Amino acid sequence: MGLLIENIRQLVHIEEMKAQWAKGKEMALVNVLDDAWLWIEGDRIVDFGTMNLLDKDELLQGKSDVQFLDATNKMVFPSFVDSHTHLVYPVSREGEFVDRIRGLSYEEIAHRGGGILNTARKMKEISEEELFISAMNRLNEILFLGTGAVEIKSGYGLNWEAERKMLRVIQQLKKASPLTIRSSFLGAHAVPQEYKGRQEKYVDLVVNEMIPQVAEEKLADFVDVFCDRGFFTVQDTERILEAGQQYGLRAKIHANELDYSGGIQAGVKYNALSVDHLEYTGDEEIKALLSSETMPTVLPGAAFFLGMVLAPARKMIDAGLPLAMASDFNPGSSPSGNMQLIMSMASIQFKLLPEEALNATTLNGAYAMGLSSELGTIARGKKANLYITKEISGLSFMPYAFGSNKVETVILNGEIQTQKT
Ligand code: NIG
Ligand code: FE
Repeated sequence: MGLLIENIRQLVHIEEMKAQWAKGKEMALVNVLDDAWLWIEGDRIVDFGTMNLLDKDELLQGKSDVQFLDATNKMVFPSFVDSHTHLVYPVSREGEFVDRIRGLSYEEIAHRGGGILNTARKMKEISEEELFISAMNRLNEILFLGTGAVEIKSGYGLNWEAERKMLRVIQQLKKASPLTIRSSFLGAHAVPQEYKGRQEKYVDLVVNEMIPQVAEEKLADFVDVFCDRGFFTVQDTERILEAGQQYGLRAKIHANELDYSGGIQAGVKYNALSVDHLEYTGDEEIKALLSSETMPTVLPGAAFFLGMVLAPARKMIDAGLPLAMASDFNPGSSPSGNMQLIMSMASIQFKLLPEEALNATTLNGAYAMGLSSELGTIARGKKANLYITKEISGLSFMPYAFGSNKVETVILNGEIQTQKT
């Protein structure tokens, strides 16, 4: 089985030599092939080149069951890799959204038992099946917006039964969806009501009971902690990351969204795969990241939705760091998983060049999911997760035309995806 895409106006983000990430000045480099073809066999990218050098007879010799797509005036991009979401959740929270319009802050809402705790209460009531169906609908939505891989966190359970329910749903989604999915155990997302004033006891539960159980049942790929003012301390975080290490769960943590929490340094110390949010990142944090293998990940949707200060993304790249951007799709702080919009925000609000915005939402996102040898660029041998655009003029049009859908055809695992009506 094969798929040949011909007459591609521009084949974007090709790689001859696979890189694990793009950092500093490399982020502005995106290789593009004009007037190109792309050949896919099974679920893999096998070859690409320019139309004038395409010998179709030779390429297709002995091949049966070949599909053809014409991409005249259209572009082909590697699918977005969204390395940070909470898209398994029971219901939306637009009531709190209106409370914030009226003047309450996200932290005040959380203090009143709203926010994450509000979703956690509903999580206990919903069935696994209902949770699966609603999450599957969200996956379908982001799939047709160009996302090809997504990380999904637990963290709205906050007791073992409900955390397990979320993680089991993510396992089911992995099987049912053509998206490449990775899961993170985020037991330490908030201190549950019944542990108020006894935070260490809840951390004990996460460390001594939940993490071993997650590992035993192979329910997650990574471990996460919300290390920030009013949530979990550096000490709590280090205990959890240590337990994660013991059980083979690498860390991807929420850090420095609300303050200089020390979360970035804790993540680096435990060789986290990524530290995410990063609104409060100063010179010390940048220095720690520079000598690490940790991907700094900015979540523009949450900053936009909550009206927060912006993470110093430009400064981080100029200092030589790699940078990823993800959607943070969740009901409280970023109710959108639209990575085209994230790319626009990257350029408009964070002053990333279109090429930098593309690297942040593809290759570097793939690194932040442990998948950069498989996804994130158009390279021979990588998984064929990509999309064909509508008729657009060039790469810069992607972040420029914010709010409109530029994706026309989605190919995941080498297969053309069709919308179910
Ligand atoms: O990444 N910052 C912590 N957690 C989520 C918000 C979750 C919620 O409000 O439901 C985030 O923004
Ligand atoms: Fe998050």
